Amino acid sequence: MAAKSKILVIGGTGYIGKFIVEASAKQGHPTYALVRESTLSSPAKANIIDSFRSLGVHFLHGDLHHHESLVKAIKQVDVVISTLGHGQLADQGKLIAAIKEAGNVKRFFPSEFGNDVDRVHAVEPAKTAFAEKAKFRRVIEAEGIPHTFVSSNFFAGYILPSLAQPGATAPPRDKVVILGDGNPKAVFTKEDDIATFTIKAVDDPRTLNKILYVRPSVNTYSFNDLICLWENKIGKTLEKTYVSEEQLLKNIAESTPPLNVVLSIQHSAFVKGDHTNFKIEPSFGFEASELYPDVKYTSVDEYLNQFV
Ligand SMILES: NC(=O)c1ccc[n+]([C@@H]2O[C@H](COP(=O)([O-])OP(=O)(O)OC[C@H]3O[C@@H](n4cnc5c(N)ncnc54)[C@H](OP(=O)(O)O)[C@@H]3O)[C@@H](O)[C@H]2O)c1
Repeated sequence: MAAKSKILVIGGTGYIGKFIVEASAKQGHPTYALVRESTLSSPAKANIIDSFRSLGVHFLHGDLHHHESLVKAIKQVDVVISTLGHGQLADQGKLIAAIKEAGNVKRFFPSEFGNDVDRVHAVEPAKTAFAEKAKFRRVIEAEGIPHTFVSSNFFAGYILPSLAQPGATAPPRDKVVILGDGNPKAVFTKEDDIATFTIKAVDDPRTLNKILYVRPSVNTYSFNDLICLWENKIGKTLEKTYVSEEQLLKNIAESTPPLNVVLSIQHSAFVKGDHTNFKIEPSFGFEASELYPDVKYTSVDEYLNQFV
């Protein structure tokens, strides 16, 4: 069997990045994390750094804004996964320049991990954020860089602990607000499962220059069905308020960051149905749980049990 690719994660100490680094090391890939010196000595990041050390992760000093450090790091690996955050997405072009100069990258995963940004019906401010990622896809394609785009839909940890009630720290027990008519289906997958699927795709020829969709059917629920599942778990019927699309658009226009960002992303998923309103065709992508049926992932049903 061919040796497992060496993987460099850029943004590995971030929210989703830490799961990707962990999954890479656990699946036996020689794993490298590009980190800024300030991050290595940051008390806030000490736990993540320690856990990477215990997994045998190699640390490479570098910065997105320091070209030589990127080239030097990239030359040591086969695969680059970016999990840079929202604030760095406009500068991801710097990774392209470094990947081209290094000249050895077998696969590049840009920072995506959300909606399929080529198939969205979003309003601002999500619209511009999605367009930025879509524009970057076109650059990668035009440069002929071998790639996989990961469309993971919702991170479970962002939505399920509050059942999409902004500001709530636990799922509702009396009243719930439902966006739109509650019927379009969205997808919620646990972060470590998203990471496991992503790493599975690294050396898989089927995902070369394709979109990897994390869209398992058991993690696909309409807002109404999600609430119904929760009601059955707690043995209680919640009082429901439906927010019309017209009212939601007004709420988005009148709110400020980060609420308008959250609401516009939820509008795309829960009202427009952008996670599920298209068929995945082999010409452009594959669904992860179908490609990797051996992966035992947590279902939404199981995930919600921790809050009962
Ligand atoms: N589907 C969903 O529900 C969902 C939810 C949230 C995010 N996302 C997407 O997931 C992706 C990652 O977002 P995230 O929230 O996980 O990111 P994040 O937590 O903001 O992490 C960003 C990472 O980039 C690193 N970084 C920042 N500036 C850097 C620089 N100049 N040079 C090198 N590294 C730098 C940070 O380092 P430090 O650790 O030192 O700060 C951190 O490791 C984004 O594309 C985002 O849109 C999806």
